[in-house]
Amino acid sequence: AADLTGRHFLKELDFTAEEFRGLVSLAAELKAEKRAGAERPRLPGRHIALIFEKASTRTRCAFEVAAADQGARTTYLDPTGSHLGAKESVKDTARVLGRMFDGIQYRGSGQEVVEELAAHAGVPVYNGLTDEWHPTQMLADVLTMTEHAPGAPGRAPAELAYAYLGDARNNMGNSYLVTGALLGMDVRIVAPRSLWPEESVTARARELAERTGARLTLTEDVAEGVHGADFLTTDVWVSMGEPKEVWDERIALLRPYAVTMDVLRATGNPQVRFLHCLPAFHDLGTSVAREIHERHGLTSLEVTDEVFESEHSVVFDQAENRLHTIKAVMVATLG
Ligand code: CP
Ligand code: NVA
Repeated sequence: AADLTGRHFLKELDFTAEEFRGLVSLAAELKAEKRAGAERPRLPGRHIALIFEKASTRTRCAFEVAAADQGARTTYLDPTGSHLGAKESVKDTARVLGRMFDGIQYRGSGQEVVEELAAHAGVPVYNGLTDEWHPTQMLADVLTMTEHAPGAPGRAPAELAYAYLGDARNNMGNSYLVTGALLGMDVRIVAPRSLWPEESVTARARELAERTGARLTLTEDVAEGVHGADFLTTDVWVSMGEPKEVWDERIALLRPYAVTMDVLRATGNPQVRFLHCLPAFHDLGTSVAREIHERHGLTSLEVTDEVFESEHSVVFDQAENRLHTIKAVMVATLG
């Protein structure tokens, strides 16, 4: 399937549709193999560095478990535990780690940091989330969509329609727009205009869509945006690294874009499925949620608990798929 030996995984725009679909297919194969209890380790003796300048539950654990499943070892560098950015430049860090590791995962703010690591490491570098893109998440989301395609699991991505509601001027908004464009999908970005992806991202997506036949809709109108969608998806309204002060403004702007049962019904599709990259604000189970609740009286933000816990929700299948897809990235680039 996907032979991407020696390649980086930095953003969706670096891949052809065939390569991207190849990674999703490889992930499906690896998932089936693991489920059958017949996993074959393809990365024995390999070492992967995991640099995290931001918090993570899924991405870190997916890399660690995937590596272990495949016979590789990981070293976790936490936001304060290395010299990166303080006493040692990105370029020097890249050259040091490149001498010891076979692959390097980076999660942080600027896309330029992961690009610079890649330019100097001499080994494959993986983007585990930047402010601009979340490409490993897209592999998991496309795998999840093909598995849960209403009516016919296994439908090709190009036959599927999804709507992303909420803050679209972030990594998830950018990645959803560009990934759907690449794969020829029917993509709706449903958000207030001020939170649509930047013009430069939209322009790249439109160029891709012209070649792939993707349908791209950017709209402020929820009913129009979700009608006929197979999948609804959303993300937190304030991302990691954004100042606390933006909460009030975001809440005011985005309340009409919360995914509720009414929004699900507005798709007109009784089998519509709900996705969320997680973490999600759907109940008062977190300290941030309780703080917001005190100030605004709200018990959920981007998705109601009713939707999150409903039979429409496939968020934990999606979370599991981070493991299989991240494994596919390592196997395809290092195997
Ligand atoms: N969805 C996602 O990237 O989760 P983490 O922040 O927990 O890695
Ligand atoms: N947009 C979110 C995604 C978290 C997986 C963030 O960057 O915090």
